[in-house]
Amino acid sequence: MDSRIPLALIEAPPVDRWQRALTDLRISVVDRCNFRCPYCLPEDQYPDHHQFLDRNARLSFEEIERLACVFAGLGVRKIRLTGGEPLLRRELPLLVRWLKRIPGIADIALTTNGMLLPRQARELREAGLDRITLSLDSLDPVVYRQLSGNRGEIGEAFAAIAAAEAEGFGALKLNTVVMRDINEAGVLDLVAHFRGTPHVLRFIEYMDVGTLNGWQRGRVVPSAELRARIGARWPLQALGRANSHDVAERWSFVDGGGEIGFISSVSTPFCGDCTRARLSADGKLYTCLFASEGFDLRALLRGGADDATIAATIAAHWQQRDDRYSERRAELRARGNESRVEMFAIGG
Ligand code: GTP
Ligand code: 5AD
Ligand code: SF4
Ligand code: SF4
Repeated sequence: MDSRIPLALIEAPPVDRWQRALTDLRISVVDRCNFRCPYCLPEDQYPDHHQFLDRNARLSFEEIERLACVFAGLGVRKIRLTGGEPLLRRELPLLVRWLKRIPGIADIALTTNGMLLPRQARELREAGLDRITLSLDSLDPVVYRQLSGNRGEIGEAFAAIAAAEAEGFGALKLNTVVMRDINEAGVLDLVAHFRGTPHVLRFIEYMDVGTLNGWQRGRVVPSAELRARIGARWPLQALGRANSHDVAERWSFVDGGGEIGFISSVSTPFCGDCTRARLSADGKLYTCLFASEGFDLRALLRGGADDATIAATIAAHWQQRDDRYSERRAELRARGNESRVEMFAIGG
């Protein structure tokens, strides 16, 4: 076992104020993106010349690996690499390889829009990446393009799926953010297309993450409504969640056509068992997707702190965690607290 893992902490993993453990770490490797999805990084707020983090501000692979080791020592078992668009970070497969070697890390996944996947899928697989989640908001070329902020083509998304299949990634998770009157009409087409394949579509309620996506509650399509629409065409039965701390509720087609999922943080919050921590590309630790501030781990790392100190600091921070934004959405929004980290900075 890697001698840097603080064994004492493995025996006493921290829990937060609501008895939630820390088992999942989502690492944003870069804040830039080659898309401008209106629900995340709207074009009018982030033109091409927007100042994203520069190289030195981002954690190096060595720093990320070191923190990941410390997190593994605290009980983290799953790592998800996110962005922005994580495939914009050069040599990402190298990072995957390093993370894969960390004792205790059982699963490494990637969330991507897929545009750069065809040329990287093989190396990622060889490096040990376990799973891929692809964002796919519509099959309609015009709507797909619109929801990418005029940057992506549906054909490229299909090429990404084909590349992942060819490299043996098997069942992909396909994330669709559903927005009223924008892409909701295409939901049945998506279901028809992917039914009977191993891939699992997950419909995500449009969320009020960050402050710049112009969120309006009226644009949210509640999962129950969507499920009724899909179920009327292809009857569904509930499978529940695979694990209690998962975000998606799973449903299977009664006729054996596979399964779909719903991620309903607006209508049915799932904070009660939220075991996810997020690390931004500049090394801030966020204990909630809707947090206003992150804790600066980069300063600790670059200030020369040893692993035990970093572990103790993270554990103490987690123990104080009280976050449950989605459950308190109405109350917190009424208070007018408009300071929230942007989605592209912590990768969803
Ligand atoms: P695995 O469990 O690793 O397979 O991933 P996942 O099912 O958590 O999926 P993914 O990371 O793709 O999450 C899907 C989407 O759910 C994200 O893009 C977010 O939009 C949303 N989401 C994920 N985690 C949270 C969370 O902690 N809170 C809220 N409100 N939404 C979340
Ligand atoms: N609401 C819901 N999901 C979002 N994502 C990004 N912004 C939002 C939002 N406002 C999700 C997308 C993408 C992932 C990175 O984050 O599904 O797959
Ligand atoms: Fe980029 Fe993903 Fe945000 Fe879209 S949702 S702008 S692909 S980071
Ligand atoms: Fe976890 Fe915050 Fe999402 Fe609730 S809103 S599930 S606490 S990340």
